[in-house]
Amino acid sequence: MHQLSLIAILTVAASAFAYDFPNYVTPCSRHDPHLNDCIKKNFEQARPHLEEGIPKLFVPSMNKFEITKVEMVSDLLNVLGTNVALYGLHNVALKDVQVDLIEKTFKFDFILINFEARGDVDLEGKLLNSIITTNGRTYGNGTDFHVSLKFDAEEYEKKNKVYLKTKNVQVTTKNNGRFFFDFGNLKENNEGASRALNGFINENQDSFVDTLSPILENVFEGIIAEIFVRMFSKIPYDELFPNN
Ligand SMILES: *[C@@H]1O[C@H](CO)[C@@H](O)[C@H](O)[C@H]1NC(C)=O
Repeated sequence: MHQLSLIAILTVAASAFAYDFPNYVTPCSRHDPHLNDCIKKNFEQARPHLEEGIPKLFVPSMNKFEITKVEMVSDLLNVLGTNVALYGLHNVALKDVQVDLIEKTFKFDFILINFEARGDVDLEGKLLNSIITTNGRTYGNGTDFHVSLKFDAEEYEKKNKVYLKTKNVQVTTKNNGRFFFDFGNLKENNEGASRALNGFINENQDSFVDTLSPILENVFEGIIAEIFVRMFSKIPYDELFPNN
């Protein structure tokens, strides 16, 4: 009898301190020999919830991100985007996971399956020996865009609990799909020049996307790395990767 009530009390005490994960997530043991698969499985279960966001895991709604300002300067084009919104980042697949909890190294390879962007764009295009400057509302979309996130972590203590701190965050991107850009609604411009610019950018999209890559890497670093930073700083290591 005594023993039973002790177990009951212990259970209540333990659950009072346990982190309140969404019911579709089961934290992986840090000793799991198939840790990467376990993380992948959790991601798969969480994936349908990315669109609306997962507050308990500090994941905002992945369907819409607003970016106040993006700037790009290249031989081809100078672009200033304002009030840019990115849509559809919840259409994401986790292709590969490499987590080593001894070395505390993390690597996640994501594929953005299909996303869109809208924004106000000021554009200066240097093509056919002439400079076209224009501005207006722009639409773009992309498919099969690879984002690789790498970081290290170290343990630290906060209020008697161990947490992980992310460091050396590195994001690289690779475009395997197609981009589509529509600068068709540009105002201060004649239709011919707009069409020339559209055609030029879409035909030279590899070099355009190459110039765009550092911007995209920054954007995705801000969005994806930030989620891990927050998750790790709010959920104790013992709860994220239980020691059992
Ligand atoms: C991108 O936009 C173009 C033009 O609206 C459209 O034809 C194409 O299907 C879109 N691609 C994706 C993957 O949404």
